[in-house]
Amino acid sequence: MYKVAIITASDKGYAGEREDKSGSVIEEIVTAHELEVTGKVILPDDRQILSDQMLNYCHQGIDLILTTGGTGFSKRDVTPEATADIVERRADNLTFAMIANSLQYTPKAMLSRGIAGIRENTLIVNLPGSPKAVRENLEYAIDAIIHGVKILKDDDAECARK
Ligand code: MTE
Repeated sequence: MYKVAIITASDKGYAGEREDKSGSVIEEIVTAHELEVTGKVILPDDRQILSDQMLNYCHQGIDLILTTGGTGFSKRDVTPEATADIVERRADNLTFAMIANSLQYTPKAMLSRGIAGIRENTLIVNLPGSPKAVRENLEYAIDAIIHGVKILKDDDAECARK
């Protein structure tokens, strides 16, 4: 069973001024796909704090880090930069696919600057902040994301032959 960590980037959530509904939506979806949530945290929109926590999760052997929030144009939105600080190999097409799919729901999907990438044995994917956006993105991408993790972990040697 793959281990998932969820990071919610939200100044208001961190201050206790907003309920973390988006983190809960991620948890619901990944649990339904038989992934195990072993870490869940709400952090302020701070580049260093976010990248440090991602790195911690990588060192703890987490297979998949899903972040929500901080991907937009607000000056405090730095989740993509924090992610770029620690990933070694980008997985941009994951993000492109999620945005392409999201355009059927709203043209504002193009306002998310989220990225995806790999650090050693961990895949990291940024999702936008609203519970609605999380659901629209993750339900669409979760099977491909799990397949990607399998390949990353060398658990699907047959992939190329299918
Ligand atoms: N993607 C989907 N599928 N559905 C949405 O409602 N909202 C967009 C976008 N992506 C949205 C979406 C909006 S309005 C913004 S501003 C950006 O995500 C960035 O959101 P964030 O700053 O909360 O991460």
